[in-house]
Amino acid sequence: MLPHAASRIDEIRSEVESIEWYHTMELAPGVVTPGWFDLRPVAGKVGLAPDLSGMRCLDVGTFDGFWAFELERRGAAEVVALDVVDPELWDWPAGSSQATKEEIGRRKGSGQGFAVARRALGSRVSRVEKSVYDLDPATEGMFDLVYLGSLLLHLRDPVSALGRVRSVCRGKVVVVDALHVPLSIFPRPLASLDASGRPWWWKPNRAGLARMAEAAGLRPEARPFLVVLPPGPALRATYPGMRDLLGRGALGRGALGRGALGRVLESRFGELHAVLHATPV
Ligand SMILES: C[S@@+](CC[C@H](N)C(=O)[O-])C[C@H]1O[C@@H](n2cnc3c(N)ncnc32)[C@H](O)[C@@H]1O
Repeated sequence: MLPHAASRIDEIRSEVESIEWYHTMELAPGVVTPGWFDLRPVAGKVGLAPDLSGMRCLDVGTFDGFWAFELERRGAAEVVALDVVDPELWDWPAGSSQATKEEIGRRKGSGQGFAVARRALGSRVSRVEKSVYDLDPATEGMFDLVYLGSLLLHLRDPVSALGRVRSVCRGKVVVVDALHVPLSIFPRPLASLDASGRPWWWKPNRAGLARMAEAAGLRPEARPFLVVLPPGPALRATYPGMRDLLGRGALGRGALGRGALGRVLESRFGELHAVLHATPV
């Protein structure tokens, strides 16, 4: 982190307060973004090498940039952060309401979080506004490490996306994505489908995530392992009271169609994800 003058810290604090955050990050001494998820305790649990010196890295679906900045912090020579900043361009199922699009769009802002964080951290990460489906080695070049966090769930076609990731990877792909826990008792590949009014699609079981990667030409190094993504202040604030549980309120993510029990667990304990390390075949 850069040394900051007191006036600069105040400036960063007021920028932080002016927008909504997805990631919880310390941008200056004592200035922490109130994000939906606090991934700081997870950074050491997904199997990233502590030293990425000399590597060219890609973070796909960067949002406020937590993972891109983490790759940079680990010494990567270059980090590219890919994102589709305009939520209208995400994969929406037919019939999604304009109100839901606007609500999600409001949370996403216009990607200012990344810009504010990049400036505050004195980062050299470059953001490229492009869909994962459009990754092309002729344009983006090749990467030693590609990180893909909480993105597949939001894609209509996760296997095509993983195929594009494979096309730009000359080293390793690390996928950290939503997992269907009950289906994970079955050893064969399975997935559940949401696709109702919001850009939430497939939730595979553990074998399903590995099979998606294989179908895209990636070789899993091992069976996916589990991590919990802890809630940040924004998600904890949606913890539903009894009114919500009894169905008389629809706050926070509930307005986007989540079941009450899911919201209680998520806002209190976080979201279970699976971690997969794979290499191009
Ligand atoms: C749930 S957030 C995950 C943020 C971050 N990767 C993480 O692990 O915490 C999903 C991100 O994927 C981005 N996204 C959605 N559709 C995309 C697409 N087709 N290609 C690339 N990024 C996309 C969104 O803009 C958002 O930044």
